[in-house]
Amino acid sequence: MRDNYNREITYMRVSVTELCNLRCRYCMPEEGVAKRAHEEMMTAEETIMAVSAAARLGIRKIRVTGGEPLVKRGIVKLCGAISAIPGIEEVCMTTNGTLLPQFARELKEAGVSRLNISLDTLNPEKYRYITRRGELEEALAGIRAAEEAGFSKIKINNVLMGGFNDDEITDFVNLTREKPIEVRFIELMPIGGGIGFDRAGFVSYETVLEKVPELVSLEREEGVASLYQLPGAAGRVGLIRPISCEFCEGCNKIRLTADGKLKPCLHSSEEISLKGMDEEQMERTLRAAILDKPQKRETLSADSPSRAGRDMNQIGG
Ligand code: GTP
Ligand code: 5AD
Ligand code: SF4
Repeated sequence: MRDNYNREITYMRVSVTELCNLRCRYCMPEEGVAKRAHEEMMTAEETIMAVSAAARLGIRKIRVTGGEPLVKRGIVKLCGAISAIPGIEEVCMTTNGTLLPQFARELKEAGVSRLNISLDTLNPEKYRYITRRGELEEALAGIRAAEEAGFSKIKINNVLMGGFNDDEITDFVNLTREKPIEVRFIELMPIGGGIGFDRAGFVSYETVLEKVPELVSLEREEGVASLYQLPGAAGRVGLIRPISCEFCEGCNKIRLTADGKLKPCLHSSEEISLKGMDEEQMERTLRAAILDKPQKRETLSADSPSRAGRDMNQIGG
């Protein structure tokens, strides 16, 4: 369906857990998040009902996120149930990849069609630093497992951080020479743990184009990414510019948190609870929330951070 600004809303990001096996500095506090009472979180049944209600309103694409979705018990079954819902054409997942050696094949069989995998550095020590507890080799094994399981169109998400990984931009772009993957550079958003980080070294998308002048614009956007390519490369490069650019006008998405709050806009504090509703009530609430989706966000900067009111792990990106 269309919202009050005539945007067609077809994409729902569904966070299935706030928990994660990593602790990326820009995303989550070191101590992690307190495990919340069971009753506060959406049950699998409620999540399936919410997606069914959303599908009836024209949602076609679901992105399963977290925290880290693969730490959620029963995640494969949940993905299977979501992909079986009439009207849902695409079930995608955003993951840190470290658990993919265990899950990639099952996810594929359950109907997950695409994976976006977060990877901010190719250096084992830096990986340990930024994730506070991860091992690079686990993430790389995850990417390999996804490829072996037959996932195509794999995207690698790289959050740009000045003084941390801006010296690796060329290495990441070079990954696309041989592999048919999309490497996406994301401007760090001043949200949750990202607020302090952004002050330390915000890197604009332009830095990528300066460091790799061979990149050719494909003059196409896909979702929130502007697409580029090295001449003759098998893969491509996406630039996601949540700060330099505003994608509110073409926004097609809503978000659902693991505790059942609908967020019509990532950067707004507005949340509408679906927890405890039956499917009909959910559909009515979703319809009202879509209609009322804010037209645009406020300007974002270190001094004027997002009003999302949550850490990224509690929203799902
Ligand atoms: P595709 O379906 O492959 O296009 O994925 P996606 O870009 O929608 O999802 P992904 O989880 O890979 O998100 C990549 C980055 O883009 C994350 O940092 C998100 O927070 C950011 N992002 C995605 N959608 C929005 C949006 O509507 N607004 C803002 N500001 N950032 C977004
Ligand atoms: N700014 C930009 N991207 C972020 N992500 C998490 N926190 C931030 C932030 N503050 C990214 C993760 C993941 C995606 C869902 O969002 O790295 O790839
Ligand atoms: Fe976990 Fe992803 Fe947040 Fe890192 S960015 S702590 S992997 S949810």
